Amino acid sequence: MKITVLSLFPEMYENFLKTSIISRIIDKGNVEIKIVNIRDYSLDKHKHVDDTPYGGGAGMLMKVDVLHSALINNVDHHKTYAILTSPKAKPLKQKDLLRLSKLDDICIICGHYEGIDYRFEKYVDEKVSIGDYVLTGGELASMVLIDGILRLLDDSISKDSLKEESYINGLLEYPQYTRPVEYNGDRVPDVLQNGNHEEIRKFNLRNSLKETLKYRPDLLEKRQFSQEEKDLLGELINEL
Ligand code: ADE
Repeated sequence: MKITVLSLFPEMYENFLKTSIISRIIDKGNVEIKIVNIRDYSLDKHKHVDDTPYGGGAGMLMKVDVLHSALINNVDHHKTYAILTSPKAKPLKQKDLLRLSKLDDICIICGHYEGIDYRFEKYVDEKVSIGDYVLTGGELASMVLIDGILRLLDDSISKDSLKEESYINGLLEYPQYTRPVEYNGDRVPDVLQNGNHEEIRKFNLRNSLKETLKYRPDLLEKRQFSQEEKDLLGELINEL
C-alpha cells in the first residue's frame, strides 16, 4: 500500500512514523509512506498557502491552486484515492478503516485554518472526520487514519487480536486481566483461570454485552442478536 500525505506540518510525522508498531509495519515493506509539504507548492515568493474568504468571515482558507498543485504533482489521480480530513464529514468508523485498508494507493490531504476553498473538494473522493469536535488541523486526523489502516494490513498484528477487538462484532471488548492474580484486594475472576473454554467464552460475551450496555447502548440498537445474546442481555437488564 502507498500512502501520500499532504500536510503543512511534515515535522509532526517524524516521531509518529519512527515509533513502535507503526515503524515495524513500515519496516516489513508492505507499505510506503510519503509526507509532502504543501507549502512547497505555493505559487508566490512569500510561500502563501492561505487567503481570506470571499464574502467575509473569520479566519483563512487553504488555497485551491496550491492544494491542487500539491496533489497532481505527487499522485496519479486515476489510481489514487484522495481523502480530505475535515470536521465537516461523517465520523470515521472501524468499518471505514477496513474498507480503506483494502486500497493500494491513498492520499490524505490535511485541511487547516478555517477550512479549504470549496473548489478543491471536487478532486477529493472522500472526506473523513475523526469525531464531532474541531482540531486546529488535519494532521492528527491523518495519523489516526494511518494508524487505524496500517494495523489492519495483512501480517501487521495477530488475526486473533483483530477478531476479538471492540467494534468488529458491534460490541465493546470484554474486560481483560493479566498477572498478578490479586492486586490491592482485586482478584482476577476465577472463571478465567479454570481453563474451561466454553465457560470463559460465555463469561466474556456476557461482559462484552455489559460494557456495551453501560458505555455504548446506541451500538445495541443497530445489532442483530443470537438467542444466547438475547438471553444474556435480558439477564443484564434485569440486574440494572
Ligand atoms: N480537522 C479539524 N478537526 C477535524 C476532525 N474532527 N476530523 C478530521 N479533521 C479535522
